[in-house]
Amino acid sequence: EKGGYASFMLKEIAEQPKAVADTLLGRIDGAGRLTLDEVRIPGAVLREADKVVIVACGTAFHAGLIAKYAIEHWTRIPCEVELASEFRYRDPILDQRTLVIAISQSGETMDTLMALRHAREQGAKVLAVCNTNGSTIPRESDAVLYTHAGPEVAVASTKAFLTQLVACYLLALYLGQVRGTQWGDEIHAVVRDLARIGDDVERVLETMEPVRALARSLADKDTVLFLGRHVGYPVALEGALKLKELAYMHAEGFAAGELKHGPIALVEEDLPVVVVVPSPRGRSVLHDKIVSNIQEIRARGARTIVIAEEGDDAVVPYADHLVRIPATPTLLQPLVATVPLQVFACELATARGNEVDQPRNLAKSVTVE
Ligand code: F6R
Repeated sequence: EKGGYASFMLKEIAEQPKAVADTLLGRIDGAGRLTLDEVRIPGAVLREADKVVIVACGTAFHAGLIAKYAIEHWTRIPCEVELASEFRYRDPILDQRTLVIAISQSGETMDTLMALRHAREQGAKVLAVCNTNGSTIPRESDAVLYTHAGPEVAVASTKAFLTQLVACYLLALYLGQVRGTQWGDEIHAVVRDLARIGDDVERVLETMEPVRALARSLADKDTVLFLGRHVGYPVALEGALKLKELAYMHAEGFAAGELKHGPIALVEEDLPVVVVVPSPRGRSVLHDKIVSNIQEIRARGARTIVIAEEGDDAVVPYADHLVRIPATPTLLQPLVATVPLQVFACELATARGNEVDQPRNLAKSVTVE
């Protein structure tokens, strides 16, 4: 069943290029327009929505954090992202004009289900982004956009995460198309980028041997920190979550701009710090800021593990270990930047003798609150 891989997790990591392509399949017509027929929420409701609220848990929550950047950028609708377990206990403000997106691989996560029930009781429309056909969350939602990752067996979510991102990008563009905030050409450009991202993920996968060797060399560490900015921040959170759940290590993700507000006090000699670097093209301010963050932590002894675009030379002098990813538009970068972090966590956990498919204390779907 594992198709020659040592674990389901490794198999599922390797399946990501196909999973991403499958999630795009049939959702773009010959004219380059998005055809999300499954979004059975009437156009008028989508046009009138004045707020998007995303609810999810764990890795799906991280997908939601990234989706927020895309939704706000492409549609100009304010978007909040909230942990499903917190959502209904704070008496959230919801009405008929709120579009709630519930993201869940399993479709059975109790916290997410309770959050969407609460939202519907307040009159909000709920759209599920889900990987499991016919599961409870899509059944109880107004509409569903399925991710086509195929069954995910390993407890740690990998290919489901990448396809959740793809589904959210499609949804954001579709909202922009329906509301007229995004026009043909712009949508085409992103769709073109999405269409070749599977190949980029494949290229990342082909160059992972040094990442594996690095992971093995860090097996006796206690702590690893992860830093990012913009969409790289949720990627850092996801990298840290993977390491916690698989390697049972202390791992934390921070927004790089927060360093000097506290976390930099954690930096000591030889502490591994993974930094996700935004593209130097486009939003270059972000890039320059993170390069100074890398300098700051390195000056304090950190061992810097830098994930940066091919051709980004500015980071070279400050990177103890450099992991190259293909050049990708900023908003889509998480699709390629997350992959080395998955491989890193999987290899480090294996080196520590852990069972990667079934980490201790965890279940694949959490059906209790
Ligand atoms: C992490 C992981 C969990 C799930 C979370 C939500 O690798 O797998 O954090 O992402 O329990 O599960 P779903 O997406 O099934 O609602």
